[in-house]
Amino acid sequence: MNNKKFAIIGGGNMGVALAKGIIQTKWADPKRIMIAEPLKDKHEELKGIAKGVRVSSSNLEAAKFADVIVLSIKPQIMLRVIDEIKPALKNSNKLLISVAAGITTAQMEKKAGGKIRVIRAMPNIAAVVREAATAICPGSYAKDNDMAVAGHIFESVGIVVYVEEYLMDAVTGLSGTGPMYVFQILEGLSDAGVKAGLSRHTANILAIQTLIGSSKLIQETKEHPAKLKDLVTSPGGTAISALHSLEKNGLKALLIDAVEVAAKRSSELSADHKG
Ligand SMILES: NC(=O)c1ccc[n+]([C@@H]2O[C@H](COP(=O)([O-])OP(=O)(O)OC[C@H]3O[C@@H](n4cnc5c(N)ncnc54)[C@H](OP(=O)(O)O)[C@@H]3O)[C@@H](O)[C@H]2O)c1
Repeated sequence: MNNKKFAIIGGGNMGVALAKGIIQTKWADPKRIMIAEPLKDKHEELKGIAKGVRVSSSNLEAAKFADVIVLSIKPQIMLRVIDEIKPALKNSNKLLISVAAGITTAQMEKKAGGKIRVIRAMPNIAAVVREAATAICPGSYAKDNDMAVAGHIFESVGIVVYVEEYLMDAVTGLSGTGPMYVFQILEGLSDAGVKAGLSRHTANILAIQTLIGSSKLIQETKEHPAKLKDLVTSPGGTAISALHSLEKNGLKALLIDAVEVAAKRSSELSADHKG
């Protein structure tokens, strides 16, 4: 357990997942965590995350309390909230970590008004079940040990990769937005099962486990997906017929297009916040 104090600004899906992650891995003491959330109705639920967790309606109070401030709010309000907590950052040694899509470290540093240590992260919603894929990158003033702190936070909810900032839009398009692609694929497979006569319940169970099992196989064997595809397409069999249909309908091109437009949208979000 480390002895830092943490502020999580925004008690939504991601903020709660991160708070639970660092508590469940025993990396942070609940008494050293303060969650800032404007909606008072949510306060009791947030306090219920673990005994000792503090909750406040004031972002500034949370920022003053903490050594590490995790900004888990929507990109649209990020720069406004940094403005709000600016008095706590002045002449301080606090580390700012943002999970917002499309807000650059330079934009955060500029708004925070100086040589503030900033780290940008892009997790995904699987943080809720501690299976997220997160990429992190440092701003101009973040040090190696700041990256280690961010590494600990996001490893508490899944795996972490380190990338240069210019790749964060690509990460947002691929793994940040990625669960949505998987939900669509699963829904499609489940519908297909129902069309073929299975009950919805059975179709869901089979589709979900097929996805988990196939992913695990790739992860554990470290084989290229194309090699595993060859392994399951026997001559004249069902898989090669299905593959023909997927190729004809451009499944891979569809996925590439989707990741590309999501990455583009992420870069548009940062352009919206220039100046
Ligand atoms: N969820 C994902 O899949 C995912 C993946 C990667 C990155 N992210 C990033 O994570 C961030 C948070 O996403 P989320 O899914 O956790 O959203 P969310 O569930 O809507 O959480 C945002 C929280 O911020 C609170 N909030 C609103 N205005 C605030 C203010 N002025 N000061 C402090 N808190 C405020 C909201 O409270 P109210 O409910 O009262 O409005 C809400 O609890 C976003 O920037 C998003 O880009 C999310």
